[in-house]
Amino acid sequence: MIKNVEAIILAAGRSRRFNTGKAKVLSTICGQAMILYSIKALKALNIPITLVLNKEGKEIRKEIEKTGIKDISFATQLETLGTANAVASTKSAWKEKNILILNGDVPLITTELIKSLYDKHTKENSSLSFLTSFVIDPQGYGRVIDINGEISILEDEECNNTSQNTNCINAGVYLIKRDFIKKEINNIKKNKVTGEFHLPDIIKIASEKNKTVKKITVPHDNVRGVNTLKDLWLVEQIKRAEIIDYWMKQGVRFELAQNIHIDLDVKIGRGTFIGTGVHLNNKTTIGENSTLNAFSIVDNTTIGNNTYIHSHSVIQDSKIGNNVNLGPFARLRNNVVLNDDSTIGNFVELKNTVIGKNTKAKHLTYLGDTTVGSKVNIGAGTITCNHDGVNKHKTSIKDNAYIGSNSTLIAPVTISKNAYTAAGSTINNTVKEGELAIARAKQINKEGYAHKLRKQTKTKTRNRAQNKFTGAIKIEKAVTKDIA
Ligand code: UD1
Ligand code: CA
Repeated sequence: MIKNVEAIILAAGRSRRFNTGKAKVLSTICGQAMILYSIKALKALNIPITLVLNKEGKEIRKEIEKTGIKDISFATQLETLGTANAVASTKSAWKEKNILILNGDVPLITTELIKSLYDKHTKENSSLSFLTSFVIDPQGYGRVIDINGEISILEDEECNNTSQNTNCINAGVYLIKRDFIKKEINNIKKNKVTGEFHLPDIIKIASEKNKTVKKITVPHDNVRGVNTLKDLWLVEQIKRAEIIDYWMKQGVRFELAQNIHIDLDVKIGRGTFIGTGVHLNNKTTIGENSTLNAFSIVDNTTIGNNTYIHSHSVIQDSKIGNNVNLGPFARLRNNVVLNDDSTIGNFVELKNTVIGKNTKAKHLTYLGDTTVGSKVNIGAGTITCNHDGVNKHKTSIKDNAYIGSNSTLIAPVTISKNAYTAAGSTINNTVKEGELAIARAKQINKEGYAHKLRKQTKTKTRNRAQNKFTGAIKIEKAVTKDIA
């Protein structure tokens, strides 16, 4: 908890270097929008936040409001005239003793670093404190120039070869006494190179006026700015590695950790194995001692304990129990429930379907809008025809039913308890308890007909070949005659 501080997050820039045509700060990093990282870091300290957006910022505002995070004020910077101008646009509402300013594109900032900035700032009674970092390549950042305590920032665009020699960069996180910034913010001049008003110039003003200015050096990874898609990739790599490291410590085994993706809000139980190239997204929860083999993608799904997901399975918005066997190449979507001990095999697609305990659908099947009881066997190639071209209809298959291979179940339809459908049947009427439904053309066997048929076919083939040959001779003769 921090007192006497209010924060301004700057996110009104035009993101020209990002170049995706979309709002940069809504890009996700391990499933969470970039802007939410700094918002949450500040919320953990109970710091009131004002977010500065440009005129097209409605979408960002909507996304933030959707998360349910409360008490964020929004300000609009009418023209993107630079970071100092963005800060100045919020000036009239300032109340607290200190103003904390963060660039909205520095997502890996932590609550602890903000706390240490605050502690140093209050301990030293500074007018201005800001985060700096040492980097190998300072390109893209403002360089911190410190000549005998006279501190100023030289922006990337202003750097010549000599000044580029410094590898201390401005991280874009500042804590400034309100009275000082309120008085000086409008004294920042338009930069001659960029034509913008630069907030870092406030550091030079403070230094020149002999105010106490403190730099706090922090690890670069925590203050990486995201200006380009490459920066986004780097930052996500760092976050992803952090998440995987956390789950390794909780006893999760990763086959090839460097190519596994896990979102921030995913949970994994102890003893579970995560294969190469697996993606776990969007609130997915996995129990203990389960296996997810290579290249499976799991989204917004709960998986129980001791469940085995074979490779290349794609699972969305579903609930999978314990001791389930699934895949390879299975597809589950739109509220599928697999109860304990069920088996869903290769090339099976399930949509909005419940599979009962101990039920099996092992090969090449589509079940949509279906409720299947327990101990049911669904034969290979079975499909539900749940869509009549206009509406969707339901199929119900009760306990212990046996669906023969290649059954076509035309919904709405019910297969009752202990009932059978014969292989290759097209079923569109209720099959009652214990009944066997056969709905296919009857087989007729003609004695000796195979031999006769073969002979007939051979004669036909021979005649056809002969006709072609005589036809060719006739044409040849005609042509020779013409030439003669
Ligand atoms: C800025 C700093 C630089 C620092 C770096 C750290 C300035 C002039 N330079 O550079 O010293 O090393 O951050 O990451 O501040 N924004 C607005 N309104 C504007 C312009 C920008 O709200 O008119 C917002 C952007 O949306 C962004 C933040 O301010 O979130 C920083 O702007 P950006 O253009 O990314 O500055 P950098 O070039 O990264
Ligand atoms: Ca930036």
